[in-house]
Amino acid sequence: MSKPKVFITRRIPDAGLKMLYEECEVDLWDEDLPPSKEQLLEHVPGVDGIVSLLSDPIDAEVIQAAGENLKVISNYAVGFNNIDVQTATQRKIAVGNTPGVLTDATADFAFALMMSAGRRVVEAEKYAREGKWKTWGPSTLLGVDFAGATLGIIGFGRIGKAMARRALGFGMRILIYTPTAQPPAGVIKVNLETLYQESDFISIHTPLTDETRNLINADAFAKMKTTAVLVNTARGEIVDQEALYDALKNHKIFAAGIDVTVPEPLPPDHPLFELDNLIICPHIASASTTTRENMAVIAAGNLLAGLRKERLPYSVNPEIYNS
Ligand code: GLV
Ligand code: GLV
Repeated sequence: MSKPKVFITRRIPDAGLKMLYEECEVDLWDEDLPPSKEQLLEHVPGVDGIVSLLSDPIDAEVIQAAGENLKVISNYAVGFNNIDVQTATQRKIAVGNTPGVLTDATADFAFALMMSAGRRVVEAEKYAREGKWKTWGPSTLLGVDFAGATLGIIGFGRIGKAMARRALGFGMRILIYTPTAQPPAGVIKVNLETLYQESDFISIHTPLTDETRNLINADAFAKMKTTAVLVNTARGEIVDQEALYDALKNHKIFAAGIDVTVPEPLPPDHPLFELDNLIICPHIASASTTTRENMAVIAAGNLLAGLRKERLPYSVNPEIYNS
């Protein structure tokens, strides 16, 4: 029997790649930059499976171009808003993601951004490096406190919960906004309005959906404390970037740290890069060596299961198994 054909849109860590080479005929897009839409459309016809990255739009057109053989789309990410899951589900194509293994790495990075923005680490480093450090100053580069402060967590899935565990260790009070989860001990469930009004720090851990797109808009910023620090490691589209620019520029909030933007990459001449009270990182929250290896193994496992028509270990659309 001939091996199933798979297209992998970028070199993922060897741990996962090896699993795929053993069982499949692999077409690996081995470039630093992602395939363009045209290149995607050229590579997918006839494949049985696709391993995609969050930067690849696997939309109806790509799914259509792949054709009848396509059984599985395995996203190398926990988020899957780059995939038209509805179309995939209609065609009984399994879609997988990589939850769980990146939870701690992502929460670590959200916490790092929160502390860096609150204590102005990046700004201070530049200040030292640029020769502005003339003396020890009683009010040089003052930031905000963490102990006793209130952290508002929007979205209380795995990563939101991991963020709460970290914050409890720092002596913070924790508010959560979630439509679903029951709050564990030590955490208070509130509505968004209360979360905006009472939080000293706000960290976003919800997927991008129609409900969360532009959730953090001018109205939301208007309700926040002028000392608030916003952190976004989820998806750029959840924050209205023009409203964010205005809030930071006009000191409606104190600072922000974002690992996700619209678009990605954010062009170097983008106005957000002018702001000193904003830290912008290039979507690296899950970027630890071990985490990325674990993601590769899960993505490969999902793909291989899908090729065998077995239930994916981490399925985004389990409803395809109902009928
Ligand atoms: C990264 O953003 C992911 O969704 O894994
Ligand atoms: C992701 O792992 C989440 O559910 O927060």
